[in-house]
Amino acid sequence: MNGITFFKTKTLKEIVSFYSQALKMSVWLQQKDCTILQKGNLLLGFCQRDSADTQGMITFFTESCEDVDNFYEYLKDIACAPPKMNDKYGIYHFFSRDSEGRDIEIQWFGYSLKSFRSGRDLLVTRRSIRKYSDEPVSDELLMAVLNSGRYAPSSRNSQPVSYAVIRNPQLLCRLARIRSGSAVISNAPLALAIISDPEISSRHIQDGNIAAYHFMLSAWDYGLGTCWIGDMDRPEVKEMLQIPASHYVSTVTPVGWPAEKPIPKERDVVRLKIIE
Ligand SMILES: Cc1cc2nc3c(=O)[nH]c(=O)nc-3n(C[C@H](O)[C@H](O)[C@H](O)COP(=O)(O)O)c2cc1C
Repeated sequence: MNGITFFKTKTLKEIVSFYSQALKMSVWLQQKDCTILQKGNLLLGFCQRDSADTQGMITFFTESCEDVDNFYEYLKDIACAPPKMNDKYGIYHFFSRDSEGRDIEIQWFGYSLKSFRSGRDLLVTRRSIRKYSDEPVSDELLMAVLNSGRYAPSSRNSQPVSYAVIRNPQLLCRLARIRSGSAVISNAPLALAIISDPEISSRHIQDGNIAAYHFMLSAWDYGLGTCWIGDMDRPEVKEMLQIPASHYVSTVTPVGWPAEKPIPKERDVVRLKIIE
């Protein structure tokens, strides 16, 4: 189930222009006398009417407290006061009003949140995380992430994948020393090895890699960070983690709550060849 909150407005054009420019919302659906705007998981519908709904509060939440400051710089002239920390709710926020007098709030939650991203957001916001907070990741949460990961496709639905959870700090340090690229493993409270069995699937390498990335996206959906560590299908890794030599280790990824917000890396344009 998804949802939209609708408001009556006397000034549809102005209100759409306000939310598009000030809050960077985009038009999700244009109807006859209503415009539905979208930002992340938020859908707001405005309909041209003789009276306006101006009750309630529209709250936008950002991924970092710096983002709140950036919005404040833009909305300074119409903001009620500069952003501040609210200890009762553990949020950093400020209030303002839209062009028709509705209260709006821009805030950042100073703690980890349950999943709220749309599918598209999930795909375009995922980053490799290499710094993690000390906050633990519970077994229940890890199981929830792995459960969504079960929906990864596999050759002939063979599902040849299993997982090894590593929480032991000494083992994490040993994995971190396997190669320079794996050093980040020791920054995380746990690591997960994604393993596939050639006796269950002849395409176990592809199955394992898809399942690993499915897990990483699922983790991101729950607010957890991961980082693909390449070249971990090694005898010393298998020995360390008691994995049969014939099995394939797609990656051993660190898993934890992000303690950094990496700047998005440049992406090439889509390289496309149309075959007539
Ligand atoms: C096959 C593969 C191997 C990778 N190996 C490593 C690695 O050994 N260590 C590491 O820190 N990151 C590794 N990465 C992460 C990439 O550096 C990262 O995905 C890339 O720079 C793009 O950044 P983003 O994931 O934040 O978008 C690997 C990624 C892939 C797909």
